[in-house]
Amino acid sequence: MVFQKALSALVLALPIVLGLPSKRATDLNPRCEFLVPIAKDLLENLFDNECGDAAHGALRLIFHDAIGISPTVGGGGADGSIFVFNETELAFPANDGLDDVLDDVGPFFLKHSNALTPGDFIQFAGALSLAQCAGAPRVQFALGRPPPRAASPPDLVPEPFDSATKILERFASVGFSPQEVISLLSSHSIAGADTVDPTIPGTPFDSTPSVYDTNIFIEVLLKGFLFPGTSGNQGEVMSAINGTLRLQSDSELARDSRTACFWQEFATNHAAVQKQFGDAVFKMSLLGQNTRDMIDCSAVIPQPPALTNFVPSFPPGQSLTDVQQSCATTQFPNLPVLPGPPLVVPPIPQADDGDDS
Ligand code: HEM
Ligand SMILES: *[C@@H]1O[C@H](CO)[C@@H](O)[C@H](O)[C@H]1NC(C)=O
Ligand SMILES: *[C@@H]1O[C@H](CO)[C@@H](O)[C@H](O)[C@H]1NC(C)=O
Repeated sequence: MVFQKALSALVLALPIVLGLPSKRATDLNPRCEFLVPIAKDLLENLFDNECGDAAHGALRLIFHDAIGISPTVGGGGADGSIFVFNETELAFPANDGLDDVLDDVGPFFLKHSNALTPGDFIQFAGALSLAQCAGAPRVQFALGRPPPRAASPPDLVPEPFDSATKILERFASVGFSPQEVISLLSSHSIAGADTVDPTIPGTPFDSTPSVYDTNIFIEVLLKGFLFPGTSGNQGEVMSAINGTLRLQSDSELARDSRTACFWQEFATNHAAVQKQFGDAVFKMSLLGQNTRDMIDCSAVIPQPPALTNFVPSFPPGQSLTDVQQSCATTQFPNLPVLPGPPLVVPPIPQADDGDDS
């Protein structure tokens, strides 16, 4: 079947690109130079030089565009179809909330649409979004995606109420191992939800949503006892920190025997998750693409600020006894406890989206 062929061609071609040494700015390929002013525009004017709502949205967008491919039903992967066929794809329930992201990102895409295809623009903006977030990896960026030919088929984007099995199978069908899936979920360290509980838009998934650290992996393993807003929302379970929202999917993958030890390992190993996430994001950005037709423009992506003074810790008032031990082979390590009263994490300030539809 044609899609299967495309996918295996991709997997075979991948190591060639992945094997490139990460380039320094001085190694800039002249064919990538036009990206330098576009990067500056996005960093300053779309992201406001912050790891905030606009950067989080651009990061989510790379996933929702790229995952639209399957060996059985087709789809173009990281092809920009979510921009061009927005009428179709934004109606998918799993894409709830992306209308606001496209409202923010869309004008920049249109401004640069003579220079970049939709697929390249989305993956470029996503790679740049990470450059705003302290502790994030510098991800590679390859240029050369052709314009999308059709909308993604429905039901390819995972939902937060999907079972761990369904999520792992969805990712496996496009070549991602359980360990890679968990590394990708470190994105939820710099993320929040607008639509899961619509009464509290901008509710972060961990206590530090503007920093790429490992708190998401620690906090999601704590025994949940509160809803930050209303109860009974589909895809949400109780969290352990006021002001943070726990996705059911994150909760299940943290506790599932196939993934719990990766989750636990990442809780205290920032360097490991940073590296694996960077590799997995780049691999995801090539879904459905023919890497032989692409060029490495990684040198345009700035190095994100380093994570300073981060010590994996339990939140104030909680300790090892609050951890729901889920990895069968290794005990969750004892960590220092942050001082102070129980946290109340503020919402993520929302990028203004004038129309509010
Ligand atoms: C198991 C698969 C996944 C599920 C079920 C899932 C689910 C969700 C949900 C429900 C939201 C909140 C949307 C809203 O209400 O506004 C969200 C936000 C987000 N997700 Fe995921 N996600 C998954 C994987 C990923 C991956 C692989 C990435 C990597 C790029 C990612 C990046 C993000 C980001 C950055 C946000 C925050 C968006 C914002 O704050 O505006 N997610 N995710
Ligand atoms: C799709 O994008 C076009 C062009 O930006 C916009 O006018 C239209 O309102 C969008 N449709 C949806 C459903 O978001
Ligand atoms: C969370 O904190 C707010 C503000 O201090 C408080 O009003 C609310 O009751 C707390 N919610 C829970 C579930 O503890």
